[in-house]
Amino acid sequence: MSSSESSEQKQYFSTELLSWYRRHKRDLPWRRSRNPYHIWVSEIMLQQTRVDTVIPYFNRFMDKFPTVAALAEAPEDEVLKAWEGLGYYSRARNLQSAVREVQERYGGVVPDTKEEVASLKGVGPYTTGAILSIAYNKPEPAVDGNVMRVLSRYFLIEDDIMKGSTRVSMEKLAQELIPEEAAGDFNQGLMELGALVCTPKSPSCLTCPVMAHCAGRAAGMEESLPVKTKAKPPRPERRYAVVIEGAAEHAGRVLIRQRPAEGLLARLWELPHAAVPTAP
Ligand code: ADE
Repeated sequence: MSSSESSEQKQYFSTELLSWYRRHKRDLPWRRSRNPYHIWVSEIMLQQTRVDTVIPYFNRFMDKFPTVAALAEAPEDEVLKAWEGLGYYSRARNLQSAVREVQERYGGVVPDTKEEVASLKGVGPYTTGAILSIAYNKPEPAVDGNVMRVLSRYFLIEDDIMKGSTRVSMEKLAQELIPEEAAGDFNQGLMELGALVCTPKSPSCLTCPVMAHCAGRAAGMEESLPVKTKAKPPRPERRYAVVIEGAAEHAGRVLIRQRPAEGLLARLWELPHAAVPTAP
């Protein structure tokens, strides 16, 4: 492909995606304002979690902790209670400790520079780009697995998306695509296209706003892209758990214990359990 074809392909993508997003975007609670705190909480909840699952959690969380100050002052147990069922609880703890930092260091105002946002606990490169672009309209890329899938297909990129070097080159590409003054809508358009149209299996190419110039589709590769090496399969572990019920004045109560402060499911409560011994 010549470089002018490629720049036309990029221009087309940016223009069409942006206009499609503005016409088709879902009405989601965190899209009703540009409040950086709302955007931040939504992005943390949306990590590894579906939009439909997040919506009621987000609404309840905002009722309970409507501002940076409210979340900073809340007892950790209450925050974990509000997160109960969403999983990956370190997200909630990191969020609260970062929010406390924003309260103390920045007077409760979420910062708007890449360095400051990226240094907050639990905020990686994707979330940094999402906060800066959606809340502050800064031209920063927000590249996660969904965005890499969309870009791999449209530009027919066969690099392994599990590699750090691929992410870096995708971030560069995504940055070049951001239209002036529309970073937030464009980045959300990329997310929205990945969620609604350019899905992992059976993408809906016929309704895609950029199908006409999609190189992956032209090559018949829309379903085989992106290239992704398999992650190591999880290692199954068998454990015995015991239920110890109280008697006499402890009747109706069950013994639970708190997990250690660090590591998996840190400080959560559980039934006592132990590994099933393996045969020698
Ligand atoms: N997934 C990650 N961020 C999102 C957002 N802002 N809107 C919808 N889905 C998302």
